[in-house]
Amino acid sequence: TTKIAVFASGSGSNFQAIQEAIDRGELDAQIEIVLTDKPNAPIVKRAEKFNIPVFSFIAKHYESKEAYETEIVNILEEHEVEWVILAGYMRLIGSKLLASYANRIVNIHPSLLPSFPGKDAIGQALAHGVKITGVTVHFVDEGMDTGPILSQAAVEVVEGDREATEARIHAAEHKLYTTTLKKLFADEINLIH
Ligand code: GAR
Repeated sequence: TTKIAVFASGSGSNFQAIQEAIDRGELDAQIEIVLTDKPNAPIVKRAEKFNIPVFSFIAKHYESKEAYETEIVNILEEHEVEWVILAGYMRLIGSKLLASYANRIVNIHPSLLPSFPGKDAIGQALAHGVKITGVTVHFVDEGMDTGPILSQAAVEVVEGDREATEARIHAAEHKLYTTTLKKLFADEINLIH
């Protein structure tokens, strides 16, 4: 069983999809801790519902990224976390965390990277008028949504309907994250770059 931490800043639907896959026996992992930089985000209540401990922090209460990431690394090590899973964590990972969890941090992003990195990728894609968009799971490096790609799924835009397009993208994320993590933990992904 792989010990993971989920980092999130928002609603936590990807967190819940991962936890439900674990509960169904589809993913041999355990979420040891949920970490958030937004103490009032819906993810906190969701995690509590599943009895998963939450660590919340407020970045501006620390003097630097290095300072709060040092605390994060201590917490991850206390919980013997092996992999860090970003699920709507809207903050760049710094050198401290990257060094401690080299090639052990993954992210999901709601576009076909390298198109539309950063915030509101779905809005960016719709504004651009693409007909096909999608979701990407990738390793995290120091850039914004730039690390090596592990998996992608395409999603057709529903013309003129942002809500329906978003629903498709989120459904694709919930499937792709679990199947990708399963392969990753089983060492079944080959990165060819
Ligand atoms: C997801 O769509 C995720 O791909 C995105 O935030 C959303 C979080 O939803 N992440 C990024 O945009 C990262 N650049 P959730 O809180 O319901 O899982």
